Amino acid sequence: MDGSPAALRCLDAGHAAERFTDEAVETVTSAEQKKVEQSIEEVINVYKQMHSSSQPTLMREQHYQYLKKGLRHLSDAYECLDASRPWLCFWILHSLELLEEPIPPAVASDVCQFLSRCQSPSGGFAGGPGQHAHLAPTYAAVNALCIIGTDEAYAVIDREKLLDFLWSVKQPNGSFVMHVGGEVDVRSAYCAASVASLTNIITTKLFEDTTNWILRCQNWEGGLSGVPGLEAHGGYTFCGTAALVILGKEHMLDLKALLRWVVSRQMRFEGGFQGRCNKLVDGCYSFWQAGLLPLLHRALFKEGELELSRQRWMFEQQALQEYILLCCQNPTGGLLDKPGKSRDFYHTCYCLSGLSVAQHFGNMDIHHETVLGKEENRLAPTHPVYNICPEKVAHALQHFLRLPVPNDSRRPGASADPEPSPPAEP
Ligand code: FPP
Ligand code: ZN
Repeated sequence: MDGSPAALRCLDAGHAAERFTDEAVETVTSAEQKKVEQSIEEVINVYKQMHSSSQPTLMREQHYQYLKKGLRHLSDAYECLDASRPWLCFWILHSLELLEEPIPPAVASDVCQFLSRCQSPSGGFAGGPGQHAHLAPTYAAVNALCIIGTDEAYAVIDREKLLDFLWSVKQPNGSFVMHVGGEVDVRSAYCAASVASLTNIITTKLFEDTTNWILRCQNWEGGLSGVPGLEAHGGYTFCGTAALVILGKEHMLDLKALLRWVVSRQMRFEGGFQGRCNKLVDGCYSFWQAGLLPLLHRALFKEGELELSRQRWMFEQQALQEYILLCCQNPTGGLLDKPGKSRDFYHTCYCLSGLSVAQHFGNMDIHHETVLGKEENRLAPTHPVYNICPEKVAHALQHFLRLPVPNDSRRPGASADPEPSPPAEP
């Protein structure tokens, strides 16, 4: 980067030509799209006036203060997330690790004790103390504990019971329900594969037929839907693809169709990603969509697709960074979906995770720097499968691989047959 404002893509003379055209057919969707583009243009104009000679800045200190406060105190607005409290721990802790802000030991220990109260007596984690175990907070709790990465944190997880819980949500066709009596969708396969592989309780039997079920979620668009037969969506596509990477079966996807689908979800004018065709840009897809690209890059390389995998730039990494830094930051801390929306911890986590992917992807040597703006904008890298920092994945695996895989033999026809090795390297 040369530090001059002209290097910004959104300030380029040709940028306006990327705007959406409705071809004289106005619909509710096209009107919304134009409104979003208008609001982004206003943000760019304000930026131009105020920062005629600088690059966008990551408001580190403001984000840090917002996150630090959130660990101890949440406003009434978070009451609706009472069944997602381990998620709040994960979103905040992961954001802090991306900012390379250490977690004070006393806070880490309090989080461990809180998550321990969320653990169900029959295994897995619930959204809050006294609630029923659910795969989504189980994923969030295990990730949060691995980010803390202390013996106290690892000891919270009752691996035997976690395996019982995973079996209780496994379906005969290979899918998983999110909780006992709950809905099936591909998020559950990812949450189950993620926690099972990180804690070394993964067995072949537990994931029998899961690959085939996930593969049925890839549709004619190239992306994956929540269940077979529906519309492709970035959230589900990430979950299905990352689960297949953990199971070592990602090559069974139509990788080129998936690549085409995901790169088409980056918005021409906004620079950020949409979740599905004909919908609006949203900062959280900076991770759910852009996070697919390192997974795909590696999968294509393994498949011998050397031409495709040699491509350094599988998406417009600078454009995504511009979208996040210019349009998704609240100047008093926290990140958001799009201009005009409020900040929240979910968008803070996934905007920062996507920014990290955009900065580090394809960036094997320092001479091909992709960090937009000053050096202080650089975040820690994130592991594209688990979305926690790679050294935290390695440390957790090192810890749990020393422990035996719990005995699975009480399951009908099951054997404790561990998978070869989980994907430690991003
Ligand atoms: C659509 O919302 C969103 C979904 C249908 C689900 C998204 C799924 C994830 C983000 C993955 C979650 C991952 C885990 C690990 C639990 P919308 O219609 O409000 O948004 P849109 O217009 O952007 O599609
Ligand atoms: Zn969002």
